Amino acid sequence: MTVLVLGATGKTGLSVVDALVARGVRVRAASRNPGPASAGVEPVRFDWADRATWGPALREIDGLYIVGPYALPGEPALVRDLLAAAPHASRVVLLSVLGVDRLPDVIPMAVWEADVRASGKEWTILRPNWFQQNFGEGFGTLLRENGMLALPAADAELGFVDTRDIAEVAAAALTEEGHAGETYILTGPEALMYDQVVRVLGEAAGRELRYIPISADQFADGLREAGLDEGSITWQLGLFRLIREGTNALVNDTVERITGRPARSLKSYASENAALWGSGPQA
Ligand SMILES: NC(=O)c1ccc[n+]([C@@H]2O[C@H](COP(=O)([O-])OP(=O)(O)OC[C@H]3O[C@@H](n4cnc5c(N)ncnc54)[C@H](OP(=O)(O)O)[C@@H]3O)[C@@H](O)[C@H]2O)c1
Repeated sequence: MTVLVLGATGKTGLSVVDALVARGVRVRAASRNPGPASAGVEPVRFDWADRATWGPALREIDGLYIVGPYALPGEPALVRDLLAAAPHASRVVLLSVLGVDRLPDVIPMAVWEADVRASGKEWTILRPNWFQQNFGEGFGTLLRENGMLALPAADAELGFVDTRDIAEVAAAALTEEGHAGETYILTGPEALMYDQVVRVLGEAAGRELRYIPISADQFADGLREAGLDEGSITWQLGLFRLIREGTNALVNDTVERITGRPARSLKSYASENAALWGSGPQA
């Protein structure tokens, strides 16, 4: 069996590659700047924006893991076109997001979901909660450099999920029977406020880290100063509105039900990655 993993160098894709290789699946690992080859892994250049790259990536695949073209919001039909260009791929897993139906349609993720459902393939849609791995890049850099994280999340809770658990569910859906036609909401084992999260990360790193709740307007101003376009700002504000409304406090047992073991905790992610937040001016 050969599976094409899109976004193979990203937060979920890297782990999806590992999880498939562990199951003895041949993987084609796709991104614009592919990583190195390794046992069972053939890197391939794939760019959503360059259809000339699609054919070689899609050749003779049986399954497909899709991280959609979220940076190309003006082209909502790309996922539909890719599915049509992959007649041999009988199984497909789409990475979506918890609360997709209540988010602004700046990123056409609901359209991608509809296209996957209408594809005629054995599809599985994953709607994860926020990733624990967000504290590795992005938020992690802010914590390391400033010792604090300022977000418009008030004191809402989130069931942060480890991307390795998402990947193991994706690998199960791509290689086992019984997952076709399912939409899985994936969460970690507990709901935590940002205040609690940064405390866990700080304890692991041996330094004090702080969470500062800010308003949505303050957050948007910061994103504008950082050069983000208005569409991306609208998307980010939508994500944080859902958080404040309590949507992301959801915790369920889907990871455990599918993988046969409990979802990884934020505490274990923190202790494995303590070096990420340990340096910086306040270390
Ligand atoms: N972060 C969260 O908490 C969270 C929660 C739920 C859902 N999500 C969803 O997760 C998705 C992101 O997935 P991720 O975090 O696994 O990926 P990621 O870490 O954002 O990495 C993106 C991947 O896609 C590749 N890529 C970027 N632009 C591309 C293009 N034009 N053509 C082909 N490949 C391209 C990148 O590699 P190259 O740059 O080399 O191409 C990289 O491998 C988003 O749709 C987001 O909404 C995120």
